Amino acid sequence: MKAFVHERYGPPETLRMAEVDKPVPNADEVLVKVLAVSVNAADWHVLRGRPLFSRATLGLRRPKHQILGVDVAGQVEALGGDVTRFKPGDEVYANLLDHGFGGFAEYVSAPGDVMAAKPATLSFEEAAAVPMAAVTALQGLGHHGDIQPGQQVLVNGATGGVGSFAVQLAKASGAEVTAVTSTRNLELVRSLGADHVVDYTTTDFVAGGRRYDRILDTVGNRSVRDLRRALAEGGKAAVTGFTSVRRLLGVSLRGGKDVAQVQAHVTAKELELLSELIQAGKVRPQIDRRYPFAELPAAIAYLEQGHARAKVVAEVA
Ligand SMILES: NC(=O)c1ccc[n+]([C@@H]2O[C@H](COP(=O)([O-])OP(=O)(O)OC[C@H]3O[C@@H](n4cnc5c(N)ncnc54)[C@H](OP(=O)(O)O)[C@@H]3O)[C@@H](O)[C@H]2O)c1
Repeated sequence: MKAFVHERYGPPETLRMAEVDKPVPNADEVLVKVLAVSVNAADWHVLRGRPLFSRATLGLRRPKHQILGVDVAGQVEALGGDVTRFKPGDEVYANLLDHGFGGFAEYVSAPGDVMAAKPATLSFEEAAAVPMAAVTALQGLGHHGDIQPGQQVLVNGATGGVGSFAVQLAKASGAEVTAVTSTRNLELVRSLGADHVVDYTTTDFVAGGRRYDRILDTVGNRSVRDLRRALAEGGKAAVTGFTSVRRLLGVSLRGGKDVAQVQAHVTAKELELLSELIQAGKVRPQIDRRYPFAELPAAIAYLEQGHARAKVVAEVA
């Protein structure tokens, strides 16, 4: 099969298309014919081996994971002996972050418990856009307990992969949502359901008068002190992104019960919940750009610039 192989740390163009062995599923695994993938910040972080300390787990001298890619959608090709939830031909979507990556390939084998039936209303490309970003939004918003109707929720980075889902999920919970983005994306976040918009190029959401019960910071460009200033009494913030190691450490060291760093873990349970919300028309993935599989490095390079309007996908078939 064809796959992009990751042999050394570096920029997206270091990925090389190669012919590799098709994986064989273990007893608990499902072999998926990949029809679409989406790209995520995790892909370019792992590709570059950045931040440097991450190489302690990713491989000190060279990458441990030969094939990157965490979000896939496709068709079940074969099943390990213990898998009873799926059958060949089923349409599925999955996230491979906690299972060794491997999505940037024509086939991938992954445990059945990180995949779910693809929502019938979505194309494969739309389905591939969902897992990492939407589950991060779901777990970030839910980290301090379920969002309650009427709560004031602020999403920083509201037009990114994570943010575009977070705005819709917070609205689906009945919250009053404030979305922080730049001028060119104000209409986009309104179309996702935001009640209030803050243009970060002209206005600092911390300096404004409004205070929030919950903040989801998908960008990770604010200090813990700033986030606390923007919280209402008893309010809580979850940070899913980071713009520097200093910011990441800041949340770990100075955060606490009210401001917490959140790392998402995708399981079939979250994907099934998202499928329900998608089928009910409450959440819809937004696609910024579509690339052919051969141009995947260009897709990652575009995402890495940090200004994608929601998700970037590639068609594999
Ligand atoms: N913890 C986890 O489990 C987890 C999972 C997924 C992602 N992440 C992390 O979360 C972060 C976001 O991921 P993503 O997939 O949403 O990234 P993304 O799609 O690349 O986010 C890009 C978006 O960020 C917005 N943005 C850039 N600078 C901003 C600023 N100063 N204020 C407000 N918005 C700004 C951009 O809007 P403009 O174009 O308008 O600037 C763009 O829409 C990354 O750091 C990623 O590593 C963490």
